[in-house]
Amino acid sequence: MAFIIAVDGPAASGKGTIASRLAKLYGYPLLDSGLLYRGVGLKVAQDGGDLDDVSVATAAALALRPSELEQPELRTRAAGELASRVAVHTPVRQALREFQQRFAAQEPGSVIDGRDIGTVIAPAAPAKLYVTASAEIRADRRWRQLVGQGEAVAYDEILADIRKRDERDGGRADSPMTQAADAVLLDTSEMTIDQAFDAARRIVETARARSGNLPG
Ligand code: CDP
Repeated sequence: MAFIIAVDGPAASGKGTIASRLAKLYGYPLLDSGLLYRGVGLKVAQDGGDLDDVSVATAAALALRPSELEQPELRTRAAGELASRVAVHTPVRQALREFQQRFAAQEPGSVIDGRDIGTVIAPAAPAKLYVTASAEIRADRRWRQLVGQGEAVAYDEILADIRKRDERDGGRADSPMTQAADAVLLDTSEMTIDQAFDAARRIVETARARSGNLPG
């Protein structure tokens, strides 16, 4: 079985950076599954559609093409909000599931970050991390990131966004954001990104040794 590394957690927890550094370290392909939901949300919004309309959002998910995941607008604050709105719809999640599962199954391994990778997309993944940090620290990180990208926005607004998104993602009926029973919790609140990556790498090495998939 492919050595799947599932990296789940809330917005701005550090999961994206950790996932991308793990992928580079092991030479595995990386999928940022949030981009898929961002792509669907943005597509619906660009077409003037209703995000709460299941059939409109599902049609957008079925029509999504990999080339559309390159748009820089997907990284904006607005796209994160659009993503979490369409992510509540079960048929949207189903439409995106097969692509993610095929990606995950690539040999010799893969890294996927998201909200439900360890619970729903790849429940048998041998390495699972649940990366988190306090809402205030995540808001501060996201605020710095957005300001760096040139988005003028107040910290308090970002904190409110983060709290709303945590509530929506954790409270939805289908595939809510939650730590898988066999995922290792990594709280990065007091860590630099280098420290967080180092802790993540050690968690993955332990999982590799346990699964008999030794580096080499
Ligand atoms: O980077 P950030 O954590 O802010 O966002 P993201 O990972 O790009 O995810 C954006 C939104 O997509 C999340 O708030 C979730 O609602 C949704 N999502 C999901 O439902 N399942 C995933 N596996 C990944 C993202």
